[in-house]
Amino acid sequence: MSAAFEEAGGPAARRRFATLGRSVALFRAFLVEQTDPDHFYGLLAEDSVRQVAGYTPLAGRTVLDVGGGPGYFAAAFRAAGAHYVGLDPDVGDFSAAGDSVAGMLRGSGTALPVRSGAVDVAFSSNVLEHVSEPARMLDEMVRVTRPGGVLFVSFTPWFSPWGGHETAPWHYLGGDRARRRYQRRNGRPPKNRFRETLFPTSIADTLRWARGNADVEVLDALPRYHPWWGRWVIRLPGIREVAAWNFLLVLRRVGTRPAGAAEKTELTGGSRC
Ligand SMILES: C[S@@+](CC[C@H](N)C(=O)[O-])C[C@H]1O[C@@H](n2cnc3c(N)ncnc32)[C@H](O)[C@@H]1O
Repeated sequence: MSAAFEEAGGPAARRRFATLGRSVALFRAFLVEQTDPDHFYGLLAEDSVRQVAGYTPLAGRTVLDVGGGPGYFAAAFRAAGAHYVGLDPDVGDFSAAGDSVAGMLRGSGTALPVRSGAVDVAFSSNVLEHVSEPARMLDEMVRVTRPGGVLFVSFTPWFSPWGGHETAPWHYLGGDRARRRYQRRNGRPPKNRFRETLFPTSIADTLRWARGNADVEVLDALPRYHPWWGRWVIRLPGIREVAAWNFLLVLRRVGTRPAGAAEKTELTGGSRC
């Protein structure tokens, strides 16, 4: 990412970034996610870092990536000059992109092993729908972010065309039914199992959580992959759950630093799993 982009930041840069061409490129990469994961996840990670840089500088900032997964985001955030720490409960995921596990934490987003107020940027991409207690994970992300820091949380809402993940679009007929259908057709259960590793999550509930939380201010709420002129769908309750495809919430941590749990990691150098 160019330093010029990072310095530019702000609404004008965000608009220049969210072009139709970018949305098409992401969608094309998504179509080959199974056969060419390096292309899809590499592009998604670079795209995410550019999107984050439209709201906050990254050079020298500590970024905690909750549910960081295979390591593609590590490379992209580090290339932008951030001090990146990934966290995931699944240690196998860390090395899938060929990266080492240095600077990664093993843990759950619902009980972050991180000192309160320790990070400048709390980031999470496509994880919230995999967590049984999403509000708890959001509360934890707020806790570890310093006052003035920024939070980015994106997820696929349940009523999105991709809400059922590999069981989509049958999830529209019910998550259990979609799961059984997948098993019948493929002779194995889906990776994302309804109410085990995939939970119905909505934009409405997430916005309600954010607006009811005095420790955060909503900076932006948008369909993550849409061009800038498609942002309006977020203003339509109900319809946005389908039409947003993927929801991105950008928050600023306000207030004072909460009393921290002293035993938790400082995030000065990351830790090895
Ligand atoms: C769909 S992947 C997303 C990976 C990456 N963030 C991305 O956007 O490509 C979901 C990730 O969430 C992780 N995950 C599942 N439950 C979690 C939890 N309770 N806390 C943190 N991460 C979790 C999984 O191990 C997996 O790496």
